Amino acid sequence: MKFFVDTADIAEIRELAALGLLDGVTTNPTLIAKSGRPIKDVIKEICATVEGPVSAEVAATDYDGMMREAAPLAAIATNVTIKVPLTIDGIKACRALSKDGHKVNVTLCFSATQALLAAKAGATFISPFVGRLDDIGLDGMELIREIRQIYDNYDHLKTEILAASIRSNLHVKQAAMAGADVATIPPAILKGLFNHPLTDKGLASFLADWKKTGQSIT
Ligand code: G3P
Repeated sequence: MKFFVDTADIAEIRELAALGLLDGVTTNPTLIAKSGRPIKDVIKEICATVEGPVSAEVAATDYDGMMREAAPLAAIATNVTIKVPLTIDGIKACRALSKDGHKVNVTLCFSATQALLAAKAGATFISPFVGRLDDIGLDGMELIREIRQIYDNYDHLKTEILAASIRSNLHVKQAAMAGADVATIPPAILKGLFNHPLTDKGLASFLADWKKTGQSIT
């Protein structure tokens, strides 16, 4: 499973990219607003930092507006993925943009049939929002399993499942178990994947014993 980071914070992205485990980045209007910076500047900097796909979301809600916004976003760098909402106009824009050779991420997916529409429209990625479904008492991960099953039924559907709205270490594990192609993970959760109290405890004990030997490896 590929790891994308879900943030527009360039310092966080640089730190995670340095680990060599980052396959891409997703942003959305909320994350851009949180960065306090102009979208084109942020996306340009992210694209120069990370080789993989970088999702930049349109703000227009009509087809013509989305197409007008997609052009300058796509011109920022070759690794820009245009993110469109899962609406009728968004799906229409997805079809047109993917026909033009652009990578497209269809976002705000909350049902398996929406995911089917995105795949039929040639989306590169579909973004089912796991956490937001959990928030309203539904099983977000079940949606990932349903989409996996549907896409696997049809060889011609090439869309990658990008598990979004990931809120925990458990979500990352379950997304991988469900066969998501990608998980887009907030920085704090991604960093938290390294941690386990037994790792810390075990290392402290190894180091204490090693010290007693008085040895040096170098
Ligand atoms: O980027 C889309 C998605 O990951 C947002 O997550 O936590 O705001 O529901 P969240």
